Amino acid sequence: MAGNNAPVGVFDSGVGGLSVLRAIRQTLPDELLLYCADARYNPYGDRSEAFIVDRTLAIGAWLVSHGAKAVVVACNTATTIAVGALRDALQVPVIGVEPGVKPAAAGSRTGVAGVLATAGTLRSSSFQRLVTEYAGTTQLICTAGHGLVEAIESRDLDSPALRARLLDYLLPMLDAGADTLALGCTHYPFLAPLIDELTGGKLTIIDNGLPVAQQLGRRLDKHDLRAQATPMTIAAGTPAALTLYCTGDTTALDWLAQQAFSAPLAPARTVDISSPLTAQDRPFLSLR
Ligand code: DGL
Repeated sequence: MAGNNAPVGVFDSGVGGLSVLRAIRQTLPDELLLYCADARYNPYGDRSEAFIVDRTLAIGAWLVSHGAKAVVVACNTATTIAVGALRDALQVPVIGVEPGVKPAAAGSRTGVAGVLATAGTLRSSSFQRLVTEYAGTTQLICTAGHGLVEAIESRDLDSPALRARLLDYLLPMLDAGADTLALGCTHYPFLAPLIDELTGGKLTIIDNGLPVAQQLGRRLDKHDLRAQATPMTIAAGTPAALTLYCTGDTTALDWLAQQAFSAPLAPARTVDISSPLTAQDRPFLSLR
């Protein structure tokens, strides 16, 4: 079993998990972090459950083989569909992220809340369970954010087309009286400023990055795995190192990571992580 100074592994289908990574960085600055973006197979949202389980197991195992003492599935789609399989497969703590149905229902004053998530997340049985367990009398307006992950992965956080698409998703929520919006995809917090602008601040936005980071801290404490600050990091007043890996084109990851973290980061390293369902792919030849 890896020790306290081992890194925490974090992954997503792409750049979205950086929103969770940023919260982990702020909450647990002494943790070494490995981040893997499965850009080669992004987006996960419209893929089959079997494919998402396949990639989740492969990347989780890869992170552990690179020394991870815990794995954060910084992807709602992979969590809702595959976190159980990953917990069964790995010997280290596994932390997932789910849409904030509970805080949305608890926080809504009008009794109407929006949930924006991928199609895969919304049709999963674990999302249905979340709704049954936590929505109570709150009316949820659940909308699949088709095209949003693709926009962010192509470095679009503000184009006219993206604005129009977002308005299509958000106006019906406002018309129904929603005052709260749960962002059920880790990519979407990067659109929060635009959502705020488009809705005139009428929606309280719920992003689960911080609760996931806090949950990670609790799990590390429980297993006595929390990193200790080293004399070097204390002297420099800087957080421990963060290394980025990517299975595809690194352009978006490098671009968004520089925005998400104030300190300059080394460029992402390209890695080939094969899995049973992608074994036929020839390494690196189909990279964009
Ligand atoms: N960030 C992932 C999530 O939280 C995006 C899924 C996708 O690749 O479609 O669901």
